[in-house]
Amino acid sequence: GKEWTDVRELVEAMAGTEVLIRGRVHTYRHVSSKKGFLIVRQKWSRVQCVVTESKENHVSVNMVKFVKQLNSESFVDVIGYVVLPKDPVTGATQQVEIQVRKVYCVNSALQQLPLYVEDAARSEADIQAGKPGANQDTRLNLRVIDLRTAANQGIFSIQGWTQIGWRECLLRKGFIEIHSPKLLAGSSEGGSAVFRLDYKGQPACLAQSPQLHKQMAICADFERVFEVGAVYRAEDSFTHRHLCEFIGLDVEMAIHKHYSEIMDLVGELFPFIFNKINENCQKELEAIRKQYPFQPLKFLPKTLRLTFAEGIQMLKEAGVEADPLGDLNTETERKLGLLVLEKYNTEFYILHRYPSAVRPFYTMPCADDPNYSNSFDVFIRGEEIISGAQRVHDPELLTEQAKRFGIDVETIKTYIDSFRYGAPPHGGFGVGLERVVMLFCGLNNIRKTSLFPRDPLRLAP
Ligand code: 4AD
Repeated sequence: GKEWTDVRELVEAMAGTEVLIRGRVHTYRHVSSKKGFLIVRQKWSRVQCVVTESKENHVSVNMVKFVKQLNSESFVDVIGYVVLPKDPVTGATQQVEIQVRKVYCVNSALQQLPLYVEDAARSEADIQAGKPGANQDTRLNLRVIDLRTAANQGIFSIQGWTQIGWRECLLRKGFIEIHSPKLLAGSSEGGSAVFRLDYKGQPACLAQSPQLHKQMAICADFERVFEVGAVYRAEDSFTHRHLCEFIGLDVEMAIHKHYSEIMDLVGELFPFIFNKINENCQKELEAIRKQYPFQPLKFLPKTLRLTFAEGIQMLKEAGVEADPLGDLNTETERKLGLLVLEKYNTEFYILHRYPSAVRPFYTMPCADDPNYSNSFDVFIRGEEIISGAQRVHDPELLTEQAKRFGIDVETIKTYIDSFRYGAPPHGGFGVGLERVVMLFCGLNNIRKTSLFPRDPLRLAP
């Protein structure tokens, strides 16, 4: 009938009261056969539990021995009194300690674990200084243990807050949340990077994005929609920023005049999300920074917007040649990010009016020059997190563009037909959730922000 206490709720005012906590055996420090210190961890909070042989507390020498022999990472229930430590003992992270009365082992972990949380949590600097650590691959193989580190708990908490900010802002603006199908007859982005499968005898593939169906929702008078859902890409990209499965944040909306209406939304939505994270996740950010040091993201209240041509010009002035009708590569994007930071003091900005040739088939060409398109990319710290555009809503032009991109229009017939039944001008964008979190936190690899990442070599755990 006793109530559970959370380790993070333990405060000095509770001194003298008896508490019951459940947590993991983090470490044990042996003092003598009559005394030891058991650090119990609950999520990322820890408390030092002092086990002392005592007639008064009914703690025997055998009990001290039992606690000493508990395996790290085992789950234990501890009953004891909250005490204020007489002299602060290193290692404890709580102000208070627990003077143990009873310890029960709820479930034991293996005696020898393939990875210890302390080692998974080591910073690069510590590893370089010779402390034991584990490389990223080992950690991903043992992800259930790796995820227990404070930095990882922080990363996924921030991922959660990113989605909260996303939903909150969009719902307030009258968007409705949809779920588009992930099993499709044809590819949604064109190209060959699709996972093919057999759909009851019919060739099918996993959706590369909600693109087609979010647009069809606009054709169905939803006006403003968003989605949070899995996206599948079969490309053989062995980079720090590509996954084969990621979480796509997608928006699609009817527009009145100009694709700047979509960029206005981006320019408001993301600072809202960044502020949300900063307001709610200081502890999490600190935990991440301890393992992976980074500077807070610099962004302006009014999001900077540059044209692609302006970007090319800035690069040119800095002595970097880039094709004005081609795409930027990872290098030139980075370089431009640095130039923008120098000139405008922001690490978050929109680059728009991209050359048509480098955008997907559904992208609306500029009315004044079809070599360019009503499209944009958005960058954090010089890396792309969003691509978006106004879409072609004329079925004939859409068919023509799809063919020009080598797409078998039969496979997307129902999509193209949607525009024959009447469709408003519209546009939207897609965001990679893992990339947003990776770049906001200045992390060097997208696998760090995917719970159980899927890349060309990894299908487990
Ligand atoms: O640039 P992408 O491919 O654009 C689309 O999917 C369009 N349908 C979006 C639109 O509405 N026009 O993907 C959008 C975003 C990228 O900016 C990037 O953040 C992320 O999704 N992304 C990936 N993230 C992880 N791994 C990959 N392989 C990714 N590919 C794209």
